[in-house]
Amino acid sequence: MSAAEFVPDTDDPAELRAAAAHCRGCDLYRNATQTVFGEGPRHAPVVMIGEQPGDREDTAGHPFVGPAGQLLDRALDEVAIDRDAVYLTNAVKHFKFTERGKRRIHQQPNRGEITACAPWLTAELAAVRPHLIICLGAIAAQAVFGPSFRVSRQRGQLLTVDDHRAIATVHPSAVLRAPDREQAYRDFVADLRIAQQAMTSP
Ligand code: URA
Ligand code: SF4
Repeated sequence: MSAAEFVPDTDDPAELRAAAAHCRGCDLYRNATQTVFGEGPRHAPVVMIGEQPGDREDTAGHPFVGPAGQLLDRALDEVAIDRDAVYLTNAVKHFKFTERGKRRIHQQPNRGEITACAPWLTAELAAVRPHLIICLGAIAAQAVFGPSFRVSRQRGQLLTVDDHRAIATVHPSAVLRAPDREQAYRDFVADLRIAQQAMTSP
């Protein structure tokens, strides 16, 4: 299964978004509320990629509006990256979860779902053509750099992939879960600072 047959041949992100609303490229559309597509300026200098929408994003229809998004906002503020100037998206566009009572518990997308959804991300990158890609966490990093990429070893390094400059850091949810949250937050901000410097250099 793949999203490929649903992706229109266009470099207009608005057309991609409209088509993605009807994607059935894998089974995740069945239980989720809606497709949460990328958002941001059409030719944003930076594309930032997360894993997949969470509970709050699924309901709202926008990426990074829940707790992880709030932490991300704070960190972006600290390194003077304007969120409104960033095209923000996810490697997988539908929320995956299990129900426990009334709560919906996030589940990691599997390799098949990540691969199925990849054509959307590829189309977004081709449409926006950013100066820099920032990957948040392993799912995004492996979608961009390939399956052998290790965030723990290669975070904070400015790399080149398919003519894009790209850098990976941890996912903001990992910062929220870290035993030493303060240290994890400082390390996250340090990586974003490297990204910010790469954004402003030629
Ligand atoms: N986590 C993600 O990876 N993406 C979102 O949009 C929200 C939480
Ligand atoms: Fe399509 Fe991606 Fe949603 Fe699967 S997760 S249905 S491939 S948009």
